[in-house]
Amino acid sequence: MNSELIGRTWDKLAGKHEEVVRTFYDRFFERYPDYKHLFAESLDRQLGKMLETMAFLARVSDETEITHPKMVRLGERHSQFRLSAEDLEKFKIVFVEILAQYCGNEWNADYQQAWNDVFEQRVIPYMTEGLKPSTPPPPPTQLKSILTRTSIRNELVGTVTSVKPRMYQGEVILTLKGGDEIHAVLTLNSISRLGLTEGRQAHILIRAPHLILAKPNCGLRFSAGNRLCGKVVHVLQARLTAEVTLELKGGDFLKAIVPQEAIADLSIQPGEELCGIFKSSNVVLAVESE
Ligand code: HEM
Repeated sequence: MNSELIGRTWDKLAGKHEEVVRTFYDRFFERYPDYKHLFAESLDRQLGKMLETMAFLARVSDETEITHPKMVRLGERHSQFRLSAEDLEKFKIVFVEILAQYCGNEWNADYQQAWNDVFEQRVIPYMTEGLKPSTPPPPPTQLKSILTRTSIRNELVGTVTSVKPRMYQGEVILTLKGGDEIHAVLTLNSISRLGLTEGRQAHILIRAPHLILAKPNCGLRFSAGNRLCGKVVHVLQARLTAEVTLELKGGDFLKAIVPQEAIADLSIQPGEELCGIFKSSNVVLAVESE
């Protein structure tokens, strides 16, 4: 790799670095609009960080041991965006295209080669290494019951089947053993901290008072993201509230704590079909600590 040529191109663009990076993002989002939602509304902070990284890449010599750990860590910070080497390749193509545009007539095949090499040898392989989840998901048998470890009464176990990152939060969809789906809205930080990638098993914690009970054919559509239906197997009446237990189709149980008078109003009794409705933001996920 010709490190000297890289430094030289970057120096030629002195005074225009910020403009180059801004133009890069404009072109990148124009060509791949699907990435735009991942970025915060203002790119100002991002621009500074990107400039530092590019200046760093333009300066390092062939002592790759300096760049390896830095690029792996950068990849780790990108793992929440669920990128792959192909995404980084698209980044490379647009970035090198913009450099060529700014260098104008002075750009030549050697410069092109040198910048492609930087991405292919110093950035993409190491960032890709960091993108991989560091710990594989535990096998199902490792999940111990949480009933003796937390106060929560609704213990479900699900497998992550989809993670959809949005701007600040992400939606994680988990499938229960009976096929029902649970939608959970978490911060991107929590998704990455808990290592919630497809295939990972997680405990699903839902507070019983957060559930609204309704008959399956009650004629209403709800804004809440979750609706789990099952058969009433138990109704425990207290003075002001009642605890209703539903058995879901995979054999999981879901408890709801509702006002006492709702039992009579809805004529809830064992054997009847009922649905528990709850918001995606009321779902807490937990994974076993290593
Ligand atoms: C398709 C490829 C990529 C996508 C979609 C992407 C996306 C993002 C997003 C969404 C952020 C957070 C921005 C914010 O806080 O609003 C970010 C941060 C950052 N990205 Fe990328 N990125 C990609 C490739 C790269 C590459 C190849 C590099 C390096 C050459 C890079 C360097 C950085 C840096 C330095 C930051 C600042 C935050 C940090 O240091 O962790 N990104 N990226």
